[in-house]
Amino acid sequence: MSLVLDSAAQDLLFREARTANSFSDEPVTDEQVQAIYDLVKFGPTAFNGTPLRITLVRSPEARERLVKHMAEGNQAKTAAAPLVAILSADNEFHEELPRLLPHFPPAKDMFFSERPVREQSALVNAALQAAYFIVGVRAAGLAAGPMTGADLVGIQKEFLDADHTPIMVVNIGKPGEAAWFDRSPRLSFDEVITTV
Ligand SMILES: Cc1cc2nc3c(=O)[nH]c(=O)nc-3n(C[C@H](O)[C@H](O)[C@H](O)COP(=O)(O)O)c2cc1C
Repeated sequence: MSLVLDSAAQDLLFREARTANSFSDEPVTDEQVQAIYDLVKFGPTAFNGTPLRITLVRSPEARERLVKHMAEGNQAKTAAAPLVAILSADNEFHEELPRLLPHFPPAKDMFFSERPVREQSALVNAALQAAYFIVGVRAAGLAAGPMTGADLVGIQKEFLDADHTPIMVVNIGKPGEAAWFDRSPRLSFDEVITTV
């Protein structure tokens, strides 16, 4: 009764949404990805820096190059998923700040002149955006399979550059046969929430 989001949407985004380990053959189109991005881009980030960058791995040749960097247990599903995305953090995100934070242009130089500070902020905020992205995939009626079980340094060298740090790889599509195990338990409210 406390939530205003209707219960069908709650189920779609959270209660019935699962991490898929197998996928149907149904393609995931660029239009679907655009609709997902155009929804989740509104998720908040520090200074509105929005450091997440997304590389869609579409060609069979690129998919092959990616699969070899995945942990063994992740290879088959990454090879078979209709779409795979590499999510990365742009460590030079501050270059866009004058445009993204027009009411406070000094932020770029005042807070982000040092690379280690940028890297830390990029990592935290790209991870937040990755979470929004997963929920957006679910909002499109698709399932996401996020994975960090991979040689992320190898993926960076293969697909990105020194300014982009991969944070996870995400398989995307309609779930296939036996796509998941039984739901694992979650910590209860009392275990997690402390009020001071
Ligand atoms: C950042 C992240 C990394 C993950 N890495 C892997 C992985 O490398 N391999 C894998 O099989 N599952 C991976 N998972 C899947 C989690 O184990 C799964 O989301 C979790 O158990 C919840 O499952 P459920 O959504 O079906 O309840 C990852 C999930 C996240 C969010």
